[in-house]
Amino acid sequence: MINVEITKAQPEDSERLKQIAIAAKRYWGYSEQIILEWAKTPIITPEEICTDQVYLASFNLAIIGWYRLKTRLPAVILEDLWILPDYIGKGIGRKLFEHAIKQAKSSSGQYLELEADPNAEPFYKRMGCQNIGESISEWGRAIPRMRYNLYEQD
Ligand SMILES: CC(C)(COP(=O)(O)OP(=O)(O)OC[C@H]1O[C@@H](n2cnc3c(N)ncnc32)[C@H](O)[C@@H]1OP(=O)(O)O)[C@@H](O)C(=O)NCCC(=O)NCCS
Repeated sequence: MINVEITKAQPEDSERLKQIAIAAKRYWGYSEQIILEWAKTPIITPEEICTDQVYLASFNLAIIGWYRLKTRLPAVILEDLWILPDYIGKGIGRKLFEHAIKQAKSSSGQYLELEADPNAEPFYKRMGCQNIGESISEWGRAIPRMRYNLYEQD
């Protein structure tokens, strides 16, 4: 079991967080063209690290994953959740998700909502999320919209 530390991200972490998101997205085997187009977008900026709730997981002082919440009460939106490929499948996604749930509760949310990469849908179901519909992603494809009820699962 990897003992990670979860701490608030700092504006200067933005470039590293972006690189982790790109590496994590690549994990699903998307074409390099799609990945490189996406990499041209900001993904996460220093300013957003100040305005949103962004937390990172570190191991041996290196950042290995992160997530971002945006508060849109009564929902809190999980906008990003990324783990470096070498650390996928080792319980870190669960730790970050559970941390996000605590943060969403302390932001007075009723539920956590997200738009999932289709490959990550089984992970979110395992975490207790339910499908509530579909959205069209920035890549123009239908992706699952999912919700975790913060007060019906206790
Ligand atoms: C999705 C992601 C964040 C999950 O994080 P992770 O660290 O690999 O997940 P964990 O190892 O903590 O798994 C937690 C649980 O979910 C289950 N799980 C994870 N991925 C699963 C999958 N693809 N299918 C079924 N179950 C899965 C695990 O078995 C585990 O169950 P347990 O805790 O009851 O034993 C990670 O795979 C990732 O970063 N993927 C690439 C980027 C991505 O798609 N991010 C999400 C964008 S919406």
